[in-house]
Amino acid sequence: MSTEKNKLTTSWGAPVGDNQNSITAGARGPTLIQDVHLLEKLAHFNRERVPERVVHAKGAGAHGYLEVTQDLTKYTKASLFAEVGKRTPLFVRFSTVAGENGSSDTVRDPRGFAVKFYTDEGNYDLVGNNTPVFFIRDAIKFPDFIHTQKRHPQTHLKNPNAVWDFWSLSPESLHQVTILMTDRGIPATLRHMHGFGSHTFKWVNSEGAGVWVKYHFKTEQGVKNLAPDVAAQLAADNPDYHTEDLFNAIKQGDFPAWKLCVQIMPLEDANTYRFDPFDVTKVWSQKDYPLIEVGRMVLDRNPENYFAEVEQATFSPGTLVPGIDVSPDKMLQGRLFAYGDAHRYRVGANHQALPINRPRSEVNTYQRDGQMRADDNGGSSVYYEPNSVGGPKESPENKIAPFEVSGSADSVGYDHHDHYTQPGDLYRLLSEDERSRLVQTIVGAMKPVESDEIKLRQIAHFYKADPEYGIRIAEGLGLSVPE
Ligand code: HEM
Repeated sequence: MSTEKNKLTTSWGAPVGDNQNSITAGARGPTLIQDVHLLEKLAHFNRERVPERVVHAKGAGAHGYLEVTQDLTKYTKASLFAEVGKRTPLFVRFSTVAGENGSSDTVRDPRGFAVKFYTDEGNYDLVGNNTPVFFIRDAIKFPDFIHTQKRHPQTHLKNPNAVWDFWSLSPESLHQVTILMTDRGIPATLRHMHGFGSHTFKWVNSEGAGVWVKYHFKTEQGVKNLAPDVAAQLAADNPDYHTEDLFNAIKQGDFPAWKLCVQIMPLEDANTYRFDPFDVTKVWSQKDYPLIEVGRMVLDRNPENYFAEVEQATFSPGTLVPGIDVSPDKMLQGRLFAYGDAHRYRVGANHQALPINRPRSEVNTYQRDGQMRADDNGGSSVYYEPNSVGGPKESPENKIAPFEVSGSADSVGYDHHDHYTQPGDLYRLLSEDERSRLVQTIVGAMKPVESDEIKLRQIAHFYKADPEYGIRIAEGLGLSVPE
């Protein structure tokens, strides 16, 4: 006899009489369409997958909290930073970028580092990577860039020709390409890497005064990387190596932690800094803008259900709270559209109401209806605004901090074209061992490129960053350095 609690039911709650045998017309007869339990079971199974993320499809997630360690309320009124000791719950999703949902964890790729803070004034998402810069600096180039990272339309194979053709024609990528090809391109685990907000954001304090800000998560586990041969072996033996490591560490009570630090730039410095501080292919010098610690992030709880928490989690750089705003970074501006659009397509119009995405603070909107509206849909409460029946009202103190705009509307790029100083500085910072591994990795990655023209164009970029960098790669590829 089954008890009420463990009695198997259909999705509409009726008890199931037989879950092992379909209803057939006699022992050897065809299956009857009146077996509604069978029909529903097969039909639901067919719909178990939502589309995977178009990028960052393979990921692992965990719950945790941010604890504020330093008072920075002179810079931001964001409630998650309101006082030392304050804890805000959060959910993090780490990911690779280019591979599909089932692809290997230990590939050379940036890692996504997306954090959803459930603040008491709504959710705040910081959707960054484990690198401080990106390959391109205008959203209009993103779909083309990602095409080069994905499969060739005919062969369905990864395509080094496209990768290096695009990079060699987009010299702004050199900084990120250099970082990716160093040892940091394959982290040992998701716990042993830093995280970055990458873009410049704006913080606004309770007086309405702003500063520009960049975020850094510094791993307390230390940075550790995998040697390429070890990574390749793991990719074959255990493609879920990073996912497993994170889950097991948390399960065993070995909670990974990161210090959250910020760089703060006065608003007016943006007009005079030696490069455009909104250009996401550049880092701000820490000599000019030192790291200031603001909190500590700890991951201490595994998801209970991968699909409900990790797959259905939706992060967007546009999920902002009072005290945190955007900058004119042309990539960030494009991302403000791209993510919400992806979520409405991938998960549905009501994705924010799912348990993993639902704010822990009160939500009072006039949004109603839509597919998969699984809450009470606002019940019988007022469904339009303005109204005279006491419905929720705007709070003028939460208006954006106004900012000046000027100039003609046009397709204008950044006016700063030095793509070489920062990657060159990075190359010069490396030890001889690190340099030779970097060169070896790049040579290995460029060898399959069929066209010498593409190789030479890219070598010229390495050369401009540092002549030795270019010469060593040219030598490795058996080419002579172009004039
Ligand atoms: C995921 C677009 C640049 C970090 C995604 C997704 C899209 C997207 C459509 C899938 C979202 C989903 O289905 O839930 C773009 C566009 C970009 C851009 C259009 C440039 C204009 C960046 C940059 C970073 C970044 C610069 C890091 C600094 C991430 C991360 C995820 C992601 C971490 C995975 C979030 C998760 O775990 O769900 N991106 N992206 N992206 N992107 Fe971007």
